[in-house]
Amino acid sequence: MPKPAVFDFDNNAKQDAQTETARKNHVDLVSSLSFSSEASSQGKREADERVQESKDILVSSEDGITKITFNRPAKKNAISYQMCHDIMLALKNASTDNSVMTVFTGTGDYYSSGNDLRNLINDAGEIKNAAMSSIVLREFVNCFIDFPKPLVAVVNGPAIGIAVTLLGLFDIVYASDKATFHTPFSHLGLIPEACSSYTFPKMMGSAKAAEMLLFGKKLTAREAWAQGLVTEVFPESTFETEVWTRLKTYAKLPPNAIRVSKELIRKHEKQKLHAVNAEECSVGQERVTSKEYTEAVMNFISRKAKL
Ligand code: COA
Repeated sequence: MPKPAVFDFDNNAKQDAQTETARKNHVDLVSSLSFSSEASSQGKREADERVQESKDILVSSEDGITKITFNRPAKKNAISYQMCHDIMLALKNASTDNSVMTVFTGTGDYYSSGNDLRNLINDAGEIKNAAMSSIVLREFVNCFIDFPKPLVAVVNGPAIGIAVTLLGLFDIVYASDKATFHTPFSHLGLIPEACSSYTFPKMMGSAKAAEMLLFGKKLTAREAWAQGLVTEVFPESTFETEVWTRLKTYAKLPPNAIRVSKELIRKHEKQKLHAVNAEECSVGQERVTSKEYTEAVMNFISRKAKL
């Protein structure tokens, strides 16, 4: 099977996701995305082409900055499986291109509403691909843990779920004062992911983290700044100009010094983060097959519930 077909999760692996063959194919795919392994030149070319095809994720590289944009505004930038794969490929490419840093942002009024709640459920309300989703999530989060250059989030609007929890793995988080930060896992019968069960208590203390992760307290941008999740908050009216001007200045700094410094800052935590990620994904796999989760998602899809 040619590699692009393996990349095409929706049209290929999804059909036989529960089988061992599909699992192995997927593991092969994610292994090829690992920052520690050398992608073949053919694989790299295919990855570049794949990312360029994507419309829901935009990738550009300019002024020393690789910019990855959630570009699905009609769905509040909810992250589909295809987008997960495209982001993994974009990060793989960005890890070796000549940019100094990688910046995430969103198109439209939202930063991102988190994982697409339709990823795991069919029209009959049956959960599909739970095992596969756990593998995808684990490798997706691993890409952020291992990313060797500064990761910056330009949070232009509300962020929900994994769009919030991943921020604990970023180096800098700039937020518009219109942004909010919401992790409604318990409402959905889910558990925290993206290492937030470890990074959030460490960052904000266990009492503040519990209110967010257990009870789904939504934070304003200023509250998120006070709790250490956000680096700086900017007025909406000047947000884009101020942030991008600053980032372009930072991108002129010597790239190798920055890379080595990031490695020094992060290396003591990496092993721990991988272990936390593995455990969250394992527990999360059980949660997505629970009645609590199925009912919550069906209520959302049938528009009975909104968070
Ligand atoms: N997964 C799937 N679809 C999503 C989504 C998500 N995470 N977030 C938004 N959408 C879709 C909606 O279903 C809707 O699709 P439709 O136009 O085909 O009906 C579209 O995006 C616009 O959302 P809508 O709900 O109409 O906008 P709103 O401004 O009233 O509410 C949200 C926005 C984000 C508050 C609401 O959509 C929501 O609660 N989404 C779920 C967020 C979530 O639970 N994320 C996972 C956390 S773990």
